[in-house]
Amino acid sequence: MCGIIGYVGKENAVPIIIEGLKKLEYRGYDSAGLAVYTGGNFNVVKRKGRLSVLESEIGLRPTSGHIGIGHTRWATHGEPSNENSHPHLGRRGLIAIVHNGIIENYRQLRDELAGKGIEFTSQTDSEVIAQLAEYYYKGDIVDTTIKVVSRLEGSYALGIMCIDEPDTLIAIKKDSPLIVGVSGHGHFIASDVPAILKHTNRVYYMNDKELAILREGSVRFCNIDREPFRKPLETITWSLDSAEKGGYPHFMLKEIMEQPAVLRSTIMSATGAGANRPVIDSLDITGFNKIVITACGSAYNAGMVARNVFERLCKVPVEVELASEFRYKDAILDARSLVILVSQSGETADTIAALREARAKGATTLSIVNVVGSTIAKEADLCIYTAAGPEIAVATTKAFSTQLILLYVLAIEFASRLGRLPPGVAQVLIDEIKGLPDKVAHILEQVDSIQRYASKSVGYKSIFFIGRNIDYAIALEGSLKLKEISYIHSEAYAGGELKHGTISLIEEDTLVVAISNCARLYDKIMSNVEQVISRGAKVLLIGDCHSGAPGVGQDGEHDSEHGGGHGSGHGADLSTDLSAELDAEPDSRLSHIALPQTDELFSPSLTVVALQLFAYFVAANKGLDIDKPRNLAKSVTVE
Ligand code: F6R
Repeated sequence: MCGIIGYVGKENAVPIIIEGLKKLEYRGYDSAGLAVYTGGNFNVVKRKGRLSVLESEIGLRPTSGHIGIGHTRWATHGEPSNENSHPHLGRRGLIAIVHNGIIENYRQLRDELAGKGIEFTSQTDSEVIAQLAEYYYKGDIVDTTIKVVSRLEGSYALGIMCIDEPDTLIAIKKDSPLIVGVSGHGHFIASDVPAILKHTNRVYYMNDKELAILREGSVRFCNIDREPFRKPLETITWSLDSAEKGGYPHFMLKEIMEQPAVLRSTIMSATGAGANRPVIDSLDITGFNKIVITACGSAYNAGMVARNVFERLCKVPVEVELASEFRYKDAILDARSLVILVSQSGETADTIAALREARAKGATTLSIVNVVGSTIAKEADLCIYTAAGPEIAVATTKAFSTQLILLYVLAIEFASRLGRLPPGVAQVLIDEIKGLPDKVAHILEQVDSIQRYASKSVGYKSIFFIGRNIDYAIALEGSLKLKEISYIHSEAYAGGELKHGTISLIEEDTLVVAISNCARLYDKIMSNVEQVISRGAKVLLIGDCHSGAPGVGQDGEHDSEHGGGHGSGHGADLSTDLSAELDAEPDSRLSHIALPQTDELFSPSLTVVALQLFAYFVAANKGLDIDKPRNLAKSVTVE
């Protein structure tokens, strides 16, 4: 939801800002702009469209300066246009701002300023910040900033420059992310780490209503009473390479391919002596009578998968709630509730609101987050981190997969502490999880066959995803992934639900992706497959459906004799040849992607990789802008 960057230092700010915006483009890409102080004025260049449009404009009319701010926009108030792009200036051109967030009382402020004769040049909520700042400005930009933010309701991360203090960059935030970076040649503000990683890995994470004053040689902080304070300077462990495409055509494909490595890191972090371990150990699970998992989008789908695992292993009911619903439903929570928040960015507005609601009701909150120092990481009582590294593609892949890993480990840990697992089973399950990265790598080695199948699937009008139990949960993610990047209509249904209405949509140009990893439900899903084939659909069957292996039984016993521990038994079978299965039946009604075997409970970690590749190659064959699908943004920091 918009990315901001700012620089003050020895170097020319313009290329630094453009490079930074490229790394932030995943946050919004309907327009972009920058302002630099040059020749006693702010030179503002802003353009509707992708960042490349702004770059060309700057190529035609080069500009430079040692201080500047930039913005890439995801429109909320006012259509994408040159006028509505940031930065915004006050009417006298004294103050320039970039803003990420939403000013909820902007109409009231706009009317108030208009009543004083101030004219607006855009339809945005953000322009009121610039106009209000100039209205209040009496020669001290820090005072002005404090006055302005005292009038703002809503969320903001702000970069502010003032013509009278051309060596000073001001930053402040509330409910939108902002970091301050420190380097040898100058200092930065940014919405996210990748924007500045080329220059520094030393950052300050800003908290709400902390004000940062950046100059070439110093970074100072004060609160809104102007009391100075110190903050810890933190070191980012993400490498620069991890924020680059590394030869892949899209970040999404690169991130899919990174999954074996990030799964290994995440498993290590949560088991043995890993960094997440003390946090997991500190949670007294026996004190809770209710577990709620709440999140948005794919992170919610991770929760849907996890519910199956928690309920099967721990024998406690688990609620999974969309954060956007949870925040308004007056949830029944108390001190005996555990609320698990799942979020890649740690900045999703609805998930933050759900977190605050849970805390207000006395629940214990545990967050699973990828971005260190993000709001959800900081505000939850406890936080464990997915070790996915920076995820740039808007459609999540590796972060989702690492979320699943941490949820599995939590479920096993809780089940174990609740005494719900027979001796030794926890270790068998953990060993099974440790085998997942190799199995994912095996699927990734065989992308060609999925690519070929996907290339034949671009013409479908509708693609349905069906599954039962945990397969249904991962079907939700497959469908979301496909529709968000390929723009093909798609729905996920529980297999048994088709006959209650949806089957009327099945016709000749429909593809049904059927997921089958629950051996005990194999016959059921196959009967759904027959039903849709007989109505004209083609079916792509994905899963370990030949094993006849029940995994963890309904009775909670781990059935190692029957393949519950396949990973260490015949599940170590990595010889599955996906391409043979697919190529054998290129145009038949029923094609099959076989997956390496694992416990049913962890099968979503394998299924999802096939689903991600399928979605990716369908979109790639349509020639779409996969990393930045239309209308979407990576980090949804507005409601
Ligand atoms: C889909 C996707 C989104 C996010 C959702 C939550 O591919 O990426 O559905 O999962 O917006 O975002 P986070 O995890 O940052 O809270």
